[in-house]
Amino acid sequence: MSDQMEQVLSEALEAIRSAETPDALNEVRIHFLGKKGSIQALMSLMKDLPKEEKPAFGQRVNTLKAEVSEKLEARREELSALAQTAKMANEKIDITLAGTKLEIGTTHPLIMIQNELEELFVGMGYKIAEGPEVEADYYNFELANIPQDHPARDMQDTFYIDPNTLLRTHTTAMQMRELEKAKGQLPIKLICPGKVYRRDDDDATHSHQFMQCEGLVVGEHITLADLKGTLEYMANAMFGEGRKVRFRPSYFPFTEPSVEVDVSCPFCNGKGCSVCKGSGWIEILGAGMVHPHVLEMNGFDSEKCSGFAFGVGLERVAMLKYGIDDIRNFYLNDLRFLKMFDRFD
Ligand code: PHE
Repeated sequence: MSDQMEQVLSEALEAIRSAETPDALNEVRIHFLGKKGSIQALMSLMKDLPKEEKPAFGQRVNTLKAEVSEKLEARREELSALAQTAKMANEKIDITLAGTKLEIGTTHPLIMIQNELEELFVGMGYKIAEGPEVEADYYNFELANIPQDHPARDMQDTFYIDPNTLLRTHTTAMQMRELEKAKGQLPIKLICPGKVYRRDDDDATHSHQFMQCEGLVVGEHITLADLKGTLEYMANAMFGEGRKVRFRPSYFPFTEPSVEVDVSCPFCNGKGCSVCKGSGWIEILGAGMVHPHVLEMNGFDSEKCSGFAFGVGLERVAMLKYGIDDIRNFYLNDLRFLKMFDRFD
């Protein structure tokens, strides 16, 4: 009998030692300690023993059981420590290896100009308005005092989607939406930056897609002097202190009077250089007093209020500010060009 116990013990110890995984070890546990396992089988031999031998036998089987349980537990810990070490070895990071450099993008120069303008005008209490790039003829032309067959439609070669729908040719379309939305309520003070489209042959100074930022102020007693002061403030903020602004008469159907606005050349301080072609002035935008008819069409009483509007081309500003000589650079997505702007970010 004692031999049989010795045998079970040595088999169990051997099986425990050679179990290489937690699963294998569990099998061993079931085989020896399970309900139908070898140790339980030993217990069942007890019923055939003489009464006086039973306690001693039972005790020995229990000791055997305890020893096997203990060895199983020790092996379980050993296996889990081994697994942990293997995992660590596997996941080891060689911190001396050169890493992969993450490429970080830069803000697009046109967005930089847009951000700058937004910050500037929000600082003066302007709202920022938005509108669709696919626009109704009504907002792009009709409400802007450019009815069908008006010759001014030729000023802006238009991409039509259908006879009533087009790609907006100027941010003035958003200005009209905002005027209509205000339903005659004063004051209005907003800018609307965005992309605009015109049929054009792309070259160094023309692009069929470009960006504008429109400004619109409507209230009581708004004058051309307010427009000039505002644009002078903008020119100084965008091109550096000391800029002067000059108005030249012009024509836009939605403003009266209309002006072209020049800023004193930031490169030569107005003395005349190759950038300003010797004139000392650089044209940067179109502007004017909102046409009374436009105010009336949108439900404003033009006797009681007036307004100014201006539209600035963001490419033009960026080209001057950063010395870029070809407008196509903005749309080619050449990383060598775009990456130059990280220092302004
Ligand atoms: N919409 C004009 C353009 O596209 C610019 C402009 C805006 C002029 C507002 C006057 C007032 O050129």
